[in-house]
This record gives sequence, C-alpha cells and structure tokens, in this order.
Amino acid sequence: MGRLDGKVAVITGGASGMGAATARLFVSEGARVVIGDIQVDRAAAVAGELGKACVAIPVDVTSSEDVQSLVRTAMSEFGRLDIVYNNAGGGPRPESRAQTGMGGAIADMSEAAWDATVDLNLKSVFLGMKHALPLLIANGGGSIISTASVSAFMGMRGQGAYGAAKGGVVQLTRVCAVEYADQGIRANCICPGATLTPLLYDFPGRQQPRDEMEATLKVTQPIPRAGLAEDIANAALWLASDESSFVTGQAIVVDGGWMASARQPGAGFGTPRG
Ligand SMILES: NC(=O)c1ccc[n+]([C@@H]2O[C@H](COP(=O)([O-])OP(=O)(O)OC[C@H]3O[C@@H](n4cnc5c(N)ncnc54)[C@H](O)[C@@H]3O)[C@@H](O)[C@H]2O)c1
Repeated sequence: MGRLDGKVAVITGGASGMGAATARLFVSEGARVVIGDIQVDRAAAVAGELGKACVAIPVDVTSSEDVQSLVRTAMSEFGRLDIVYNNAGGGPRPESRAQTGMGGAIADMSEAAWDATVDLNLKSVFLGMKHALPLLIANGGGSIISTASVSAFMGMRGQGAYGAAKGGVVQLTRVCAVEYADQGIRANCICPGATLTPLLYDFPGRQQPRDEMEATLKVTQPIPRAGLAEDIANAALWLASDESSFVTGQAIVVDGGWMASARQPGAGFGTPRG
C-alpha cells in the first residue's frame, strides 16, 4: 500500500531537480501527478517515464491562466485534487537578469530583475494557492506544499530579491495555514539548503561540471555529503501524506545542518578534525 494511494497532486517545476524527484516518489507511493513546467520536453520525458499516472502540461507559474489550467488539468485527467506542490523557482530568466544570476547587489539590481525574481518565486506560490484552494476545499481538504529556501532566513550576497521572495513564501504559508485550517487545508513549505540540482550546476551563465559542484556541496554544511533532490522529495512526501495531518504553517528546513551551524573563522566543514 502506498502512502499517497488515491491522491492526485500537481507539481510545478516537475521537469527537473526537486520537482522531478518528487513526481517520481509520489507516483511510486500511489499518487497520480500533473507536472507543470516551462521546459516542455523535459517535463514530457518525466511524465513518459511514469506512465499513465503522470501527465505534463506547459505552465509558466508567473501566469495566472497557466496555473489555473494546471489545477483544472488535475480535475479533467484524474477527477480530483489533493496535493499542490508550488515548487518551481530560481533566478530570473536571462532576458531580465542583470549582473549575477539572482540580479546582483541591491543597488545594482534592475527593477526588471527584482520583478522577475519575485514573480517567479513568490507570486507563483500565491497563484498556486489561489487557484487550488477552491478545488481543495470542494474536495474536503488537501495539502499545499511550497518550496522556500534557507535564503529566507540567511542574508546571502546577491539574493536580495530571491531571499525576500522566499521569506515571503514562508509568511504566505503561515497565513494560508491559518486562513484555511478549518476547511481541511494544510499549508507548509520546505526550505532546502544547497541541493545538487541543475539550478546550481546548470544555471545560465554559471555552468559547472556536476561532480565539481557535488564536491563543493559536500563541505557546505555539517553533514558531509551533497544535499540531493531526493532529500527534498522525501520531505514533500511526508508533508503530502496523512502522516503529517497535524502539521501546518511550518517551514521545514532540509539543509544537512547548514543553518544550525556557525562556521569557525577560516575553517570549512570539510577541514579534517585536529
Ligand atoms: N537547488 C538548490 O540548492 C535550492 C536551494 C533552495 C531552494 N531551491 C528552490 O527549489 C526549487 C526547485 O529548484 P531545483 O533546485 O529543483 O532547480 P531546477 O532548476 O532543477 O528545477 C526548477 C524547475 O522549475 C522550472 N521553472 C522555472 N521557471 C519556471 C516558470 N516560470 N514556470 C514553470 N516552471 C518553471 C524549471 O524549468 C525547472 O524544471 C526552486 O523553487 C528553487 O528556488 C533550490
């Protein structure tokens, strides 16, 4: 028996990284899944791998119409909606990116980069909640999961817009949890630390071999291995399942202990013990 038997989920950003790992895990636990992504071919490939339990449609999460069509597809394909994973995010698209990947330092950041980053990482979560909530309520309840980041809690250079947007996801999650708890809706977010996905090693303008990035991530936090997309998928599975039925409004940090730690001056976590 699967932990998500009979449930239907939508996952944004399911063509790659955490979203793809979560689609695979949800289906293996009995769910049927609709993936929405701008990378149409890669999303179709993930869905093809998962057979009849998964369909993929083109979705830009910054578009209200697209997000509405994503949740409606869950109803038309599978007849219900139980789980919404607002996961797509990252840096702004190249055409609106100024300077470094996330838009540069605050004084150098263009308004276009700010708007694009906040739309992609925060407005997208609002749209996912807004359009899914009526269907989840009609269904008698459901679980909304969103991807925030440790950047919501730590000041990282060049992440003014991204960190602010992810902080907004944490707060929107709390408000959603409070507003809809009595209608059977739970809302939580996952805050990944550095995680080995294409977002880190295949970012436009910042490509790096995957194994080099893996070596970097191995010494980024106290647990001496790179965080993986599957680590995040496992957290999403628990939040999606009834095992977390008394958990709402939470920001669950999955970071190998990064946020818990204070790095010693001049020492990395990979420094041999003396
Ligand atoms: N990888 C990390 O270290 C890390 C850390 C903290 C938070 N995150 C967050 O995790 C989430 C997933 O990222 P990932 O690491 O799996 O990266 P990824 O690049 O592997 O996957 C992100 C997916 O989102 C899709 N996407 C991007 N813009 C979109 C849009 N406008 N509409 C629809 N889909 C869109 C991409 O096509 C891609 O398939 C993001 O919200 C990211 O901000 C990642």
